[in-house]
Amino acid sequence: MRRTARLLAVIALALGQAFFPEASLALSTALDRPDVGRRLFHPRPETGPARPDRDCFATAPDGTRLHVRLHLANAAFPTLLLFHGNGEIASDYDDLAPLLAGIGLNLAVGEFRGYGLSDGEPQASKLGPDAAVAFDFVRGKLAASGFSPGLVVMGRSLGSVCALSLADARPGDLGGLVLESAFATTLPLLHVLGLEPGLLDLRETDGFGNLAKAARFTGPTLVIRPHRGRRGAAAFRRLAGRPQTPAAHPRGRAQRPFFRRPPPLPRRPGRPGRPGARPWPRHPRGGPALTAQPVTARRAGMPRRHAPSPGAFHGANAMLLRHAEESDYPGIIAQLDAWWAERHMTDMLPRLFFKHFRDTSFVIEEGGAAIAFLIGFASQTDPAQAYAHFLGVHPAHRRRGLARRLYERFFEAARSRGCAVVHALTSPVNRRSIDFHRHIGFTLEPGDRLEDDIPVHSDYDGPGEDRVLFVKRIGQASG
Ligand SMILES: CC(C)(COP(=O)(O)OP(=O)(O)OC[C@H]1O[C@@H](n2cnc3c(N)ncnc32)[C@H](O)[C@@H]1OP(=O)(O)O)[C@@H](O)C(=O)NCCC(=O)NCCS
Repeated sequence: MRRTARLLAVIALALGQAFFPEASLALSTALDRPDVGRRLFHPRPETGPARPDRDCFATAPDGTRLHVRLHLANAAFPTLLLFHGNGEIASDYDDLAPLLAGIGLNLAVGEFRGYGLSDGEPQASKLGPDAAVAFDFVRGKLAASGFSPGLVVMGRSLGSVCALSLADARPGDLGGLVLESAFATTLPLLHVLGLEPGLLDLRETDGFGNLAKAARFTGPTLVIRPHRGRRGAAAFRRLAGRPQTPAAHPRGRAQRPFFRRPPPLPRRPGRPGRPGARPWPRHPRGGPALTAQPVTARRAGMPRRHAPSPGAFHGANAMLLRHAEESDYPGIIAQLDAWWAERHMTDMLPRLFFKHFRDTSFVIEEGGAAIAFLIGFASQTDPAQAYAHFLGVHPAHRRRGLARRLYERFFEAARSRGCAVVHALTSPVNRRSIDFHRHIGFTLEPGDRLEDDIPVHSDYDGPGEDRVLFVKRIGQASG
C-alpha cells in the first residue's frame, strides 16, 4: 500500500515536471534538518568593504533578501552567473571578475541565503528556488541596463545544486552550464562531510538529483574537476563527452580532469516543455545513469540486528555519527570519569586529540549531545598501523551497537589511510572493555604474565600501570 502510494507520488511528480518544468526547482526538504545543515553549510558574514556600486539584493517569495554581486564590465559581453561553494561568499570572487572581463564575460555572483550579505538561514531545499530568484533578478538588471541578455550559469561545489536546478528547470534560458567541483550524488557527499546517511535514514532520492539533472540538460556544458569520488567523476565524464586535456583555470590553478560537452548537434524531438532531449548514455540496465545505492546500515558494515528502524533516528532523537570536533571536548571531558565508573580518566584525554585527530575520530550525537565517541589515529611510525586511543559510550546508551558502529567507522577511516592493523589497550581491571573487544574480533597480545587468564603487560605505561593489549587485522597493508 505504502509502495503504491510512493509510486503514484513519483509518477505525479514526473508528470508535474513534464508539464510544469518550473516544478523541478523544488528540492526535497529531507536535508533541511539541523544536523545535516550544520555539516552541509559553512556560512560566514561579509567582513570586507561594502561595494554599493556592485551589491544588489533580490527578494525571494518569502521576503528573504538574497545578495547578488554584479561585476558588469561591458554591455556587449554575456554574463556568467556564478553560485559559490559551501564555505565561500560572493566577495571571494572579486578577483575573478577582471580575469573574466579579459576574456569577454561579465560576472554576477549569487550568494546563498544566510551567507555573506544575504539574509536568512541556509536551507538545502531553497538552493534551487533561490537560484531562480537570483537568475531572474540578474536577467532583469541586464535588460534594464541594456546589456546582452546572454547568461551562462556556473555552480561550484555546493553551488552546482543551484546551477543544475536552473539548468533543469529553465534549459532554454541558459546560454551554457559550467560545473566546477560538482558532485553527482548526494549521499557520498554527506559521507565526506562526516554524516552517516544510513543512520540518518536518508536515501539518494532525498538528495539534490544533480546527476539526473545534468543528464537532462542538453545545452553546452563545461565540467571542471568533478567532485572527488570515482563514481561521480566517471558519471560526469560520460555526460560531458570526450575528455579534453587538462586546462588552465582562469584563476591560474591547473584543474583536472577537465571535460567539455559541446553544443548538441543531432537533436531529437523532446518532451513537452523541453527543447530537444539528447539521448545521453543510459545505465546499462536501463535505470537512471549511475545513481548511488542508499547507504543502508547493513552496507555500512553494521549487522542487521543493529540496523535502526526507520523512525528510530528521526525527530528530536535523531542520531548522528560524525567526525569529532574540538567543540565536543568540554561536554565529553565533563562526563568522562562518570562513564568509566568514576575511575580517573581525564588526564589521558587532553583536548589535543579532538583538535588534531579529527579525521580519524568520531562522535555519535543524539538530540545535540555526544553520547558516544572514539578517538583514534593512524600511526606515524608505521603507516600500516592505526590506534584506537579512547572509546566511550554513555551508560544509558550501551548495548545499542554504538561502540561497534564507531569502530566500523574508524576501521573504514584507517583502511582508507592504508592501515591493515588496529591496536588498542585497556587496564586489566576493565573487564567490560576486554570482553567487548574480544567480542568484536580483537585478540589479546601475549603479555609477561597472566591475570585470571588475561595476558597482562606489567608496567606498560609506567610503574604500576599495567595494560592489556588488543590487536585486530582490518585489511592488507598497502604499498
Ligand atoms: C565497552 C563499551 C565501549 C561498549 O559499548 P557498547 O556501545 O555498549 O557496545 P556495543 O553495543 O556496540 O556492543 C557491540 C557488541 O559487543 C558486545 N558487548 C558490549 N559490551 C560487552 C561486554 N561488556 N561483554 C561482552 N560483550 C559486550 C555487545 O553485546 C555487542 O555484541 P553483538 O554485536 O554481537 O550483539 C562501553 O561499555 C563503555 O563505554 N564502557 C566504559 C568505557 C570503556 O571501558 N571503554 C573501553 C575502551 S577503554
